[in-house]
Amino acid sequence: MYSSKFFVSILLLLQFSIKWNNANTDNRTDDKAYDVDTDAKDMPLVKLIPLNSTFITDYRSLERRRGKQNATEDDDFEFLITGGYRPQTNLLVRYAVSLRSKREFMFFGDDHFCGGAIISLKLILTAAHCIVKLKTGSTKKRAHDIRVVAGTERRLVRTDNTQILAVEKVIPHSKYTSSKVANDIGILKLKDEIKLNEGFVAIIPMADTPPKPGTKCTIVGWGSIIESGPAPDAVLNADVTIRDEADCTDVVPPLPKGTICANNQNDYEIDSCQGDSGGPMFCNNKLVGLVSYGSGCGRPGQMGVYSDVYYHRDWILGNSASSIRRSSSTIAIDTLMLLHLTLIKLAINVVV
Ligand code: ARG
Repeated sequence: MYSSKFFVSILLLLQFSIKWNNANTDNRTDDKAYDVDTDAKDMPLVKLIPLNSTFITDYRSLERRRGKQNATEDDDFEFLITGGYRPQTNLLVRYAVSLRSKREFMFFGDDHFCGGAIISLKLILTAAHCIVKLKTGSTKKRAHDIRVVAGTERRLVRTDNTQILAVEKVIPHSKYTSSKVANDIGILKLKDEIKLNEGFVAIIPMADTPPKPGTKCTIVGWGSIIESGPAPDAVLNADVTIRDEADCTDVVPPLPKGTICANNQNDYEIDSCQGDSGGPMFCNNKLVGLVSYGSGCGRPGQMGVYSDVYYHRDWILGNSASSIRRSSSTIAIDTLMLLHLTLIKLAINVVV
């Protein structure tokens, strides 16, 4: 009856309309389905999924899984990560990058898989689980299978400030374990230096003191706006507080060393989620954590787990230094020194 070409064109049309929907999210302030107060300094993130959206199916099935067959409109808000927000000027996204696959599936940004943070002109810090192959859990991904996208507040829109960077070296922590999710940290060394761009691309200094429980922090990412839900086009921020280790082990036992847990005591839905991994947690303008894992997203009484950047600083510094290629002149000087030392040793031996 219908040819396969017909189905392919319908599929392409559908994909295009989803992309269009996503890309136009910001402009739809007049849409009743969004609760956006344009006068507010901080724009709230998508509070409601548009009722006519294709995403509603995800949402309904989520509700059903949670045993809420007849959710009222007010309940509809309950499972969305309502606390995320989009500040009018996002001062933090300039330090964040989106990690992408070798090539996009259908359109720019649909291959985003993790976040990362810019710690120097050539180094990106991320989660180890983002840069190892899932099946083996220990083999690292190939450098040319990962692209780093910087200067892009919108996942799906490429602007004049967007930089797409190739990776030269993939360095997951050698003691990363997927079973306990310990040492979930890694470095991507870029082929070329990032071009710093005031307001769009910048380097974030790493924490120089251990994380303190009670510190207010902000996470930034393009991860799902709801557990099992869609990923946003425009980046979202969410505010969480670092919690005491003792409070963490109550909900996410057993917490490996080098991890921090954080949540928002006023609103359990404020959390990171799938796709935020590897992305930064900033506290007082320092890089303090990297999104690692959690049980679902935004669940009551739960917390998000983050890799502790301060705890891993020696590993980070050690591996950053080893990735800086030494010039041939320093190698020549080193060889001369070694020769010199050997001669002195020999002389001492002869004397003794
Ligand atoms: N592992 C997830 C990722 O790969 C991050 C999950 C964070 N979950 C949470 N509830 N905080 O993107």
